[in-house]
Amino acid sequence: MSTTLGSFIAGGIAACGAVTVTHSFETVKIRLQLQGELQAKGSVTKKYKGPLHGVKVIWQNEGPKGLFRGIGSAYIYQVLLNGCRLGFYEPIRSNFASVVYKDPSVQSLGINVFAGALSGVIGAAAGSPFFLVKTRLQSYSPFLPVGTQHNYKNSFDGLSKIYRSEGIRGVYRGVGAAMIRTSFGSSVQLPTYFLAKRTLTKHLDLADGPAMHLYSSALSGFVVCCFMHPPDTIMARLYNQTGNLYGGVFDCLYKTIRTEGVLAIYKGFFAHLARILPHTILTLSLAEQTNKFMRRVEDRILPDSLRGKI
Ligand SMILES: *[C@@H]1O[C@H](CO)[C@@H](O)[C@H](O)[C@H]1NC(C)=O
Repeated sequence: MSTTLGSFIAGGIAACGAVTVTHSFETVKIRLQLQGELQAKGSVTKKYKGPLHGVKVIWQNEGPKGLFRGIGSAYIYQVLLNGCRLGFYEPIRSNFASVVYKDPSVQSLGINVFAGALSGVIGAAAGSPFFLVKTRLQSYSPFLPVGTQHNYKNSFDGLSKIYRSEGIRGVYRGVGAAMIRTSFGSSVQLPTYFLAKRTLTKHLDLADGPAMHLYSSALSGFVVCCFMHPPDTIMARLYNQTGNLYGGVFDCLYKTIRTEGVLAIYKGFFAHLARILPHTILTLSLAEQTNKFMRRVEDRILPDSLRGKI
């Protein structure tokens, strides 16, 4: 086992690697989610027609810079989320296990899922301002703009401008949607992963191994995307506005469905899927490598007395 700090660094590197590879689809997703906002279906000329078309037009008009807008904020968000998961999961899990089973070492699926979701929600709340800036950076386009056009230089410039013009409320705009989104995603992930694994073993007679990991994480990624996408769309829209369009999560959901039809909450779904599937698979396989690497580094630099203490 690596130390806690070692796992934090290893997990952070793996997550940022996965983010780098999948960020283009994230940019397209944001633009698809905002396209035609609060306009009746059919009255909108679509600038972005789907994940691949979106990547193509952004690349042609804005170059790689366009596809990678907001990547700095995406890294910071991942590191915060990852850190909160790592830091809060075990304390939450063991506390609940000792209350419910009078023994902190008991592993129960329900408690583990709950601890995973709660620590994810804490991370989502902590990282929300960075996701907000990221959304605004990604929707900015000098060629085919969708959404309010904020020309921030980078995430810190964005955050300070938001703070100055919209105050602390502005910085935390959309945090409720961000927490709902992550709680949906995290609580579905683990159970569907195990379910997929069990089903694959039973019906396809697949042995436990890398292939099994791959199929199970792809299946659970798909289910996670189905649950997480509607609050993700609401979140993108709350992040785009400056407080003048929606009063909150349910107001946004209601207005979106009323004007654009119920499928509007699934706008950008395929771009999300194109991001989430490689992201899950890459994070898992990269984490294995980066963890190994961190262990080797620690074996070299840490004296025996310190191992397992940081
Ligand atoms: C984004 O927010 C602005 C300001 O709140 C609003 O005027 C606009 O309609 C929103 N959506 C899009 C797609 O621009």
